[in-house]
Amino acid sequence: MKLENKVFIITGASSGIGKATAKKFAENGAKVVLTARSEGKLEDLKSEIEANGGSALVVEGDVTISEDIGMVVQQTLANFGTIHGIINNAGVMPLSYIENLKVDEWNMMVDVNIKGVLNGVAAVLPTFIENKGGHIINISSMAAHRYFPGGAIYCATKSAIKMFSEGLRQELAPKYGINVTSIEPGLVSTNLMSTITDEKILDMMKGMEDMTPLESEDIANAIFYAVTQPDRVNVNDVYVVPSEQQ
Ligand SMILES: NC(=O)c1ccc[n+]([C@@H]2O[C@H](COP(=O)([O-])OP(=O)(O)OC[C@H]3O[C@@H](n4cnc5c(N)ncnc54)[C@H](OP(=O)(O)O)[C@@H]3O)[C@@H](O)[C@H]2O)c1
Repeated sequence: MKLENKVFIITGASSGIGKATAKKFAENGAKVVLTARSEGKLEDLKSEIEANGGSALVVEGDVTISEDIGMVVQQTLANFGTIHGIINNAGVMPLSYIENLKVDEWNMMVDVNIKGVLNGVAAVLPTFIENKGGHIINISSMAAHRYFPGGAIYCATKSAIKMFSEGLRQELAPKYGINVTSIEPGLVSTNLMSTITDEKILDMMKGMEDMTPLESEDIANAIFYAVTQPDRVNVNDVYVVPSEQQ
């Protein structure tokens, strides 16, 4: 039980990588705080975790609303007394070609993928600074390493998160003992593509169906590795991709 009694907030816990990570952490003794907009899915996950002997709290919220994430932190402290880590995982990927000017989708990516992470960090930081410790895990992407068709905005948001993580680490780790990790997955089999509306991108995606993607559990394992190292070890980046992905 490497995470016995450790308290972790997981954003975007209602599906995919966030859900798998919540289960992995709870199996290893962590008290997990599950947040996303789909309260029903979070309640189902909480029941599953508790049926397996784990401990979970559900706080519904939208990461783009700073008051919501503030409430997540408030409820976490009220129920569990402290916070050891936050996994800023909530994200969206409505890929599209720029010439199609899907400006609302561009803004949604900036709001969720960048501002959502900033809101999460701002909400936990006073507790981490007071505790002189904590772990911030930001879910970036392979998209921070390379552009792919239709991904100009998405890649920009994930590059921002990778560099933001490095800035956080340099400012917070030496001074306050707050470790910071950027997780950068390649293709993972989740619902992430469900927000794509650009027909040309959807056609292109069909070409990827022959490849074996990662499973959400593979990324949960990578996150678990990063948070279970000794405090003196800061795992900066974890770049993990399917063996078959170019
Ligand atoms: N799948 C991949 O290939 C891949 C690769 C690299 C990186 N990633 C990153 O991994 C992270 C998790 O994605 P996933 O692949 O697990 O996709 P997913 O299954 O679609 O999960 C996305 C999660 O984000 C939540 N979310 C979306 N908008 C939100 C908002 N405004 N406020 C709160 N929660 C919100 C969703 O919950 P609700 O809808 O219930 O709010 C859901 O729980 C994302 O940051 C994604 O960019 C994924």
